[in-house]
Amino acid sequence: MKGYKIKTLTQFIIERQADFPFATGEFSRLLYQVGVAAKVINKKVNKAGLVDILGEAGEVNVQGEEQKKLDVFANYQLIQALKSSGECCGVASEEDQEIITFDNDLERDGNYIFCMDPLDGSSNIDVNVSIGTIFSIYRRISPRGEKAVLEDFLQEGTKQIAAGYIIYGSSTMLVYTTGRGVFGFTLDSSIGEFCLSHMGIQTPENGAIYSINEGNIGKFPDGVKKYIGYCQETDKETNRPYSGRYIGSLVADFHRNLLKGGIFIYPQTASAPNGKLRLIYECNPIAFLAEQAGGKATNGTERILEIKPHSLHQRVPFIVGSKNMVDKVESFLNNGEE
Ligand code: AHG
Ligand code: MN
Ligand code: MN
Repeated sequence: MKGYKIKTLTQFIIERQADFPFATGEFSRLLYQVGVAAKVINKKVNKAGLVDILGEAGEVNVQGEEQKKLDVFANYQLIQALKSSGECCGVASEEDQEIITFDNDLERDGNYIFCMDPLDGSSNIDVNVSIGTIFSIYRRISPRGEKAVLEDFLQEGTKQIAAGYIIYGSSTMLVYTTGRGVFGFTLDSSIGEFCLSHMGIQTPENGAIYSINEGNIGKFPDGVKKYIGYCQETDKETNRPYSGRYIGSLVADFHRNLLKGGIFIYPQTASAPNGKLRLIYECNPIAFLAEQAGGKATNGTERILEIKPHSLHQRVPFIVGSKNMVDKVESFLNNGEE
C-alpha cells in the first residue's frame, strides 16, 4: 500500500548523527529540543490574531526597540527547552543584554552554547506577515563543568557547528545546516512533526530579486545606490529589471531568495554606520546557511563568517544571497563599477 512516506526531523538528525565528526548524541538532543520549542512557538504564532497576545509587552529590549509579547514568549520557550536539554551551558539572545548561563552541575557540563533571535520580524506579527526564529550553535571554548563565559559567544562565524531558522509562514518550516548541506523540514500540523521536504538546498548562482529597504536609499553608500540603479535597468540577458521584494523579516526575505535566487542587503546608512542587523544571532547563522547552499555573505569588504565579534549585540552591514549578485554589489562598493 502506498502510504505517506515521511522522514521526521528527529529521524533525520539521528540518521545523520554518524556523519558528524564528534557524534555523541549530545548535539542531536540539543537540536531535538530546538524543534520542540519551535512547535510551541508556532502554536502561539498561529493564535496571534485570536488571543490577547498582540501589542507591546511594555518593555524595551537591549536594542531600544519595543518588545512584542511574542518576542518575550519565544525567548522564554527557547531558553526553557535549551535548559532542559542538559547539553547547553549558555544562551545569547537578542532579548537579553547579557549572556544567560545555566549553572547547575548537569548544565555546566553542557558542551554547547546557543545564540538566537527568538522572534525575527516582530513588527510583522500583528499584521499577519511571516516572521521567524534564527539560531546558531557553537562548541564552548571554556572548560566543561564551569560556567559559560562571554568569550564562548564571541567566536567567529566559521566556528559555528550548526545554524538555522524557523519560518512561520504560509507553512512553518525549519531549515538548518551542520556544515554538510542545508536541509528544510515542513511542519505537518496534523501529526505535529517537522518532515523532511527540502533535501540539500542549493541556491541559484544568479537571481532576479533584490531585497532592500529602498525607503532609506538617500542614506545608503554610493555603491549600494548604484547597484539599485543596476537592478532597475533593462537588460534581457541578465533578466533585468529585477523584482524588488522586501518583507521586513530577514528570515522570510532570506528564505524566499534562498529558494528562488536573489540578494538581500541591509547596508550601513548615514545614521547607522554599522547597519541594523546583529552579527552573532542574525548575520552569522544566515551567512552559514547561505554559504552551505552555494551562496555568499559579506559586509561589503569582509566575509561575514570571518569577522571576529567584539560584543554580543554588535551590528554589521549585511549583504547575502546568490553568489554572482553578491559579487556584483561588492564590485560596485569597492571598485566603483558603474
Ligand atoms: P527583529 O524583529 O528581530 O528586531 O528584526 C527585524 C529586522 C529584520 O528582520 C529585518 O530584515 C529588518 O529588521 C527590517 O528593518 P527595516 O524596517 O529597517 O527595513
Ligand atoms: Mn531580527
Ligand atoms: Mn527579534
